[in-house]
This record gives sequence, structure tokens and C-alpha cells, in this order.
Amino acid sequence: MQYTWKDIEQHVNGCTCCPLSRTRKKPVMGRGNHQSDLMLIAEAPGGEEDQQGIPFVGSSGKLLDRLLQDCGLDRTELYITNILKCHPPGNREPQEEEKEACFPYLKYETFLLKPRIIVCLGRVAAQRIISPDFKITRQHGTWTYRKNCALTATYHPSAILRDASKYEIARKDFCEVVKKRKELTGGREREGLGI
Ligand code: URA
Repeated sequence: MQYTWKDIEQHVNGCTCCPLSRTRKKPVMGRGNHQSDLMLIAEAPGGEEDQQGIPFVGSSGKLLDRLLQDCGLDRTELYITNILKCHPPGNREPQEEEKEACFPYLKYETFLLKPRIIVCLGRVAAQRIISPDFKITRQHGTWTYRKNCALTATYHPSAILRDASKYEIARKDFCEVVKKRKELTGGREREGLGI
């Protein structure tokens, strides 16, 4: 049997696979265009996302929207999700067991979307998805190819909020994503897998 987007969302909403289910307000399923060839993967919902149950609605989300807009992208043409679907208290870094417990949801999201491009936002996502020793400062903007999908990483919007000099670096990385997308698919076909 193949799960649908609705099935995954129902599982996420009722998930009790790790202790974060006891502290979260609302689980945060990924959102966006289910026909897109472009998937963004970040770390975990923040406080505002926890309240609303929607990814990237807080200050990081506003910065992300600006970044996307500066490269001619917007959220309606991509799918965005997190490694963890529940908010870790105090925005602490996700623990190994939490990442593992949540990984099947990300696998299903990727399986259904079949992206040609995955952009990891920040070190935590890059180390879980691209390589455990990924160094965001040195390796952002580089490309890895796996299962018919091109994977890259750039700074997390919250890192840019802490250090504005990273904005221009992330903007350039996203502009390369736009180029890569044209190169790979013309923005139309979708057949990748990536993770
Ligand atoms: N930070 C993340 O990593 N994800 C969100 O959804 C919001 C902030």
C-alpha cells in the first residue's frame, strides 16, 4: 500500500514516537507544492511554528521569503519541511533519537515528492541528509548527486538573522539553485528521490 500526503500528515499529527510529542503544541508537517521538483529541508520547527503547526511562519520564515524572492523564487513553487516535525524545547539542537524517530516521515515526503533538487537549510539538515561531516561554512553551495537528485546546502535563515553577512552568501547559493533547476529540468519534470 502506498501512503498519500494525507496519510503522512495524519501520522505526523498523531505521532508519539519520541518525547517531543509530550512537549509540542502542534506537530509541523511539511508544506508547499506537492508537484514541485524543489524540496527545502530545515532543522526543526521553532516556537512560532509550534503554535501554528506550519513551517517557517516566524522570523526565520520572513527572512527565507525575502531570500527566495531575491532569487525569483517563492514558496508556492517548492515544498518545505524539517528533519523534526516537533519543536524541541528552547530551540535546542535535535537529539539523535529524535532525528531517527522522525526520519520515516521525511522519507515518505521525499518518496511522494520525488524532487530533482534538495536544499538543506543549515548544518543539522546537511549533516543528516548530505553527509555526517558536512561543514556548512566550507561546503555550502557545493553539489552532491544521489538517486537522480542534486543536493546542496546553505545557511539556515536563523543563522543569517544572527549574522547578516551570511545573507549575500545564501542569496548566491539560492541563485545557483535556480540555475541548477533550469539545467536539470527546465523546472518541469520530477523524478528524483535523494534520500
Ligand atoms: N526553523 C526551522 O528549522 N524550521 C522551521 O520550520 C522554522 C524555523
